[in-house]
Amino acid sequence: MEGVTEPVFLELVLSRNSAEHLGGAFTEFVRVTDHPIPKKRLAARLALAPFKAPVGLQLMGADLAALAETARNAEEAGAPILDLNFGCPAKGALRGCAGSATLTDPSRVEEIVQACRAAVSEIPVTAKMRAGFDDDTLLEENVRAAEAGGAALVTVHCRTKAERYCPELDWTRLARAVEAAEGPVCGNGGVKTHADLERMRRETGCQLVMVGHGALANPWIFSGVRVNPAEAARFLLEYSERLCASGAPTKGSVQRVKQLLVHWTAGGLCEDRASWLRERDPEALLSRLREVASS
Ligand SMILES: Cc1cc2nc3c(=O)[nH]c(=O)nc-3n(C[C@H](O)[C@H](O)[C@H](O)COP(=O)(O)O)c2cc1C
Repeated sequence: MEGVTEPVFLELVLSRNSAEHLGGAFTEFVRVTDHPIPKKRLAARLALAPFKAPVGLQLMGADLAALAETARNAEEAGAPILDLNFGCPAKGALRGCAGSATLTDPSRVEEIVQACRAAVSEIPVTAKMRAGFDDDTLLEENVRAAEAGGAALVTVHCRTKAERYCPELDWTRLARAVEAAEGPVCGNGGVKTHADLERMRRETGCQLVMVGHGALANPWIFSGVRVNPAEAARFLLEYSERLCASGAPTKGSVQRVKQLLVHWTAGGLCEDRASWLRERDPEALLSRLREVASS
């Protein structure tokens, strides 16, 4: 999730769940305009401790040549999987005809996947899409187009671009994607609890499930382990400490912690969410966390 799940957060989540429960993760998208992204910048997105679960690199763009060269660079930078974003609803993406804008034209989805597939030699290319742009009428066509381009897995976020992040969820769209696809589909959208992971699989037939906000609320969602407040606080403290160790100022690292506290449910730590979020002094917030962590 762009602006949220940077490498330190990904590492902490991967370290709290075994590969049996958490099969893999993807980086935030890397935006590709008309210039290929150099290997060094891509490698920075992948700067993670080694885990059994692969961390795929996600690209978003519409310029076939620049995407293809970036895909090649991503493979050389060590990406084990290359994912392509066809879901971003942001204005910047739409202006560049990238992200969810591509969903109005399934042949573009196919071309983009194909260009990247042809550029890499060994790693799988996957696609992540919304259920549609204004509506879901092209859902099946877009899923099939991604597969025709060579996508080894299609992740479908059940909302359309027009629905942004609305609370209503239509998982029947995931079942339609599963029905249309020849290969595996990863379902996404609205998984809030460990039990929801299985429920989504059961109700839609999708083989895999992707979790966004649910993992910001509870990084243990994949394994289903219930942590106590002390363990939950230790996660947030470690997050802040490791961000600082990687060069972030304390204020910035605490801002990142607060970004998680907006969603946080693990360990029952945020029953009093408002009081955590009201805390303006970064040091005061950290000492509150230290107090809970040592209790
Ligand atoms: C702030 C934010 C950033 C996101 N960044 C990305 C991204 O970089 N790549 C992507 O494929 N989806 C991105 N998404 C979408 C999520 O991956 C996911 O599809 C969406 O939140 C629905 O899943 P959820 O209900 O489990 O959160 C982002 C969503 C948010 C709110």
